[in-house]
Amino acid sequence: MRITALTLRNIRSYESFQADLSGRSVVITGPNGAGKTNLLEALTLFGPGRTLRRSRLPEVVRQGAEEGAGAGITLCDDGEDERRLVVTIPPPRFDKREIRIDGEPVRKAGTLTDLLRFLWLTPAMDRLFMDAPGDRRRFLDRIAAAGSSAHAEDTARYEKAMRQRMAALEQGAPPQVLSALESEMAASGVKIAGTRRETAESLARGYEALRQEAFPQASVFIEGDVDLMLGEKGPEAAMEAFRARLQGNRRIDRDAKRTLVGPHRSDLVVTHLGKAMPAKLCSTGEQKALLIGLILARAAAAKGQGGSALVLLLDEIAAHLDETRREALAQTLEKLGLQAFLTGTDEAAFAPFLPDMDHLRPGAGQIGSLA
Ligand SMILES: Nc1ncnc2c1ncn2[C@@H]1O[C@H](COP(=O)(O)OP(=O)(O)OP(=O)(O)O)[C@@H](O)[C@H]1O
Ligand SMILES: [Mg+2]
Repeated sequence: MRITALTLRNIRSYESFQADLSGRSVVITGPNGAGKTNLLEALTLFGPGRTLRRSRLPEVVRQGAEEGAGAGITLCDDGEDERRLVVTIPPPRFDKREIRIDGEPVRKAGTLTDLLRFLWLTPAMDRLFMDAPGDRRRFLDRIAAAGSSAHAEDTARYEKAMRQRMAALEQGAPPQVLSALESEMAASGVKIAGTRRETAESLARGYEALRQEAFPQASVFIEGDVDLMLGEKGPEAAMEAFRARLQGNRRIDRDAKRTLVGPHRSDLVVTHLGKAMPAKLCSTGEQKALLIGLILARAAAAKGQGGSALVLLLDEIAAHLDETRREALAQTLEKLGLQAFLTGTDEAAFAPFLPDMDHLRPGAGQIGSLA
């Protein structure tokens, strides 16, 4: 399936926007502030959780909008089977998404994931290897979710049980209440660790499939207590070991007012394989190239999963890349065979991409013009 139309109403800078697409990849160019990133972000309204800017829904709605906001996507496959996905954000609070697929209301956001998944790279991720562990963990969970529709739900279940256990500890709830919540945390926590582990392992397959010399290979290691338990003991014993750690930690967790052990504290350790250098110590350009390689490898590994379309969003992608790498990226995207949306200010930098892609120049009249 490929995106063949995008419409927006009262989203970010767009009062209205409409573009018909061929289903090929899309280059979006225009000056600063033209609304390029806004288009990518609008697409991520169709993903689970926060948008590509990590914004809450009211921020995504156009300032001053009084009527409803929303976005629509048409998905089309080669056999001309068409699906229409619509997200509306109703006034006055603009804080809830209502989803419809082919006109039918959908309760669970997970249903969207069965049709459409995203992988994205934005300039905000340029410092990922220097940022706090939480940023890397979120990155890992996002690329994991691109290949596992259960991952977002497992994470939500784990976090809910963790919050409930902390409240129960503070209220002095009876031990059986704590035990039930700890069992839930152990079950979903080990599943989370398992999916993250599979994600890290899938990268090697992705690199192998793409053989992209322009983008260095990374090895990815997940560092954390539950990750270690899982690696050493397997899922069943890891679950029991994690559950026992939680039970043993009740007092210190209560005193610390946070849960000290669990997959919510894991970190991602990335190494530039060719240089045997921690990503953190690589140059800015090397880090960017590592990150692009990693996303492409994950895309290659995850694209066939679940029969849903995987779409790549690459914001300001040309900025750090020299000509050789831009050409290599164009070739790799071609080889991947996925629909990608690429943005940049400099139209000339997209010369290697444009012959085979659609071209949008937002800004002029706010109606997407398809060149
Ligand atoms: N909720 C909102 N309502 C109205 N306008 C908004 C809202 N949020 C952001 N904007 C505006 O949208 C405009 C376009 O933003 P966007 O980030 O898409 O630009 P861009 O084309 O990606 O630019 P750059 O090249 O600088 O990255 C900005 O001028 C911004 O102020
Ligand atoms: Mg932008």
